[in-house]
Amino acid sequence: MAGLIPQNFIDQLLDRTDIVEVIDSRVTLRKTGRNYTALCPFHQEKSPSFSVNPDKQFYYCFGCGAGGNAIGFVMEFDRLDFRASVEDMARRAGLEVPQEAAQDPQQNAQQQNLYQQLAAARDFYQQQLREHPSRQRAVDYLKGRGLTGEVAKDFGIGYAPPGWQNLYNALVNNSQDEQQLIDAGMLVEKQPTEPESAQSDETRRRGSYDRFRDRIIFPIRDSRGRVIAFGGRVLGDDKPKYLNSPDSSVFHKGRELYGLYEAKQANNRISRFVIVEGYMDVVALAQHGIPYAVATLGTATSDTHLQKLFRMAPELVFSFDGDEAGRKAAHRALETTLGVMEDGRQVKFLFLPEGEDPDTLVRKEGAEGFTRRMEQAMPFSEFFFNALCDKV
Ligand code: UTP
Ligand code: MN
Repeated sequence: MAGLIPQNFIDQLLDRTDIVEVIDSRVTLRKTGRNYTALCPFHQEKSPSFSVNPDKQFYYCFGCGAGGNAIGFVMEFDRLDFRASVEDMARRAGLEVPQEAAQDPQQNAQQQNLYQQLAAARDFYQQQLREHPSRQRAVDYLKGRGLTGEVAKDFGIGYAPPGWQNLYNALVNNSQDEQQLIDAGMLVEKQPTEPESAQSDETRRRGSYDRFRDRIIFPIRDSRGRVIAFGGRVLGDDKPKYLNSPDSSVFHKGRELYGLYEAKQANNRISRFVIVEGYMDVVALAQHGIPYAVATLGTATSDTHLQKLFRMAPELVFSFDGDEAGRKAAHRALETTLGVMEDGRQVKFLFLPEGEDPDTLVRKEGAEGFTRRMEQAMPFSEFFFNALCDKV
């Protein structure tokens, strides 16, 4: 069987393809301003409500809600599956579809080993939360934020104790281990300019030190439940508040969502996701009876994120903080959403009161209050037309 098509090839193919050409070879397009319009090929109509945006490289029909990128159009119009559409477009673009990357057995073994190390790191941090002499500070912090032990366990929350070599000592047996943990971002390679504090006698002999120190640890799992990265929060007011693993061979921020695996564990038939900003928002919502929140990991929501969620549920609610940054994020989310809207998919925009986030709100109003807010949130179409009117 043919393997998966690597994401970077799909990106490259979309880069090399102009959606206007792809659609114009099948439907007559007319230029109107920056965009192109046509009679929609996906439903019966007398005046054109089908529009193609060359800047964003997506199409959208205001009549029937069909929309997507060039690959989606070919799938829909030519009635092909994903692979056949990609192959057809690749042929026209003069590209060859590569075989799945993970077929190299050595690379595969390395990756398996990395998953094992990341799982071992998660176990280590959880054990420290139970056993480290300074564990009480971490436990008090979590209790202070209203979390029970049960939710902490569901999310695999742990504690990275103070010190530069705790994880190192627990997991590194040889230089290969060390290199792998450096590649995954768990250890940081010492630079000659490293501050004196990072160069105790102990570390000076070695090449690397723990990235996460004296922080609450949130393991990030992929949708199969494998630990692929971590987020770490300070216990006090130090900066940066959160530290995240960098992208690695198993972790790509633009594709992963914090809380997705846990949501699937809580309920195998999810009908709605709420997309929030932070780790603590996801955990607090779960704690209070809303176990279907997910967070992007310090990046804007991508269409890969949205496609992933829509494969599991027909309704998405974006939640935004009620400040200027929240409104900006909402407009970005609107644009991304446009590219993935289809019949049967529902999107809402929830704007929270100034100064609140989902964590603080659900603690005040409970699941009931927060659910009511989601139900009364602004529908996609309303937000879309408001945004258009603001521009005019
Ligand atoms: P926020 O600053 O909104 O904080 O960051 P929060 O989630 O409400 O945090 P708490 O409640 O004080 O614990 C939202 C998200 O942005 C990313 C993290 O993913 C965080 O969850 N972030 C924030 C960082 O990556 N680094 C930072 O220093 C701050
Ligand atoms: Mn918060």
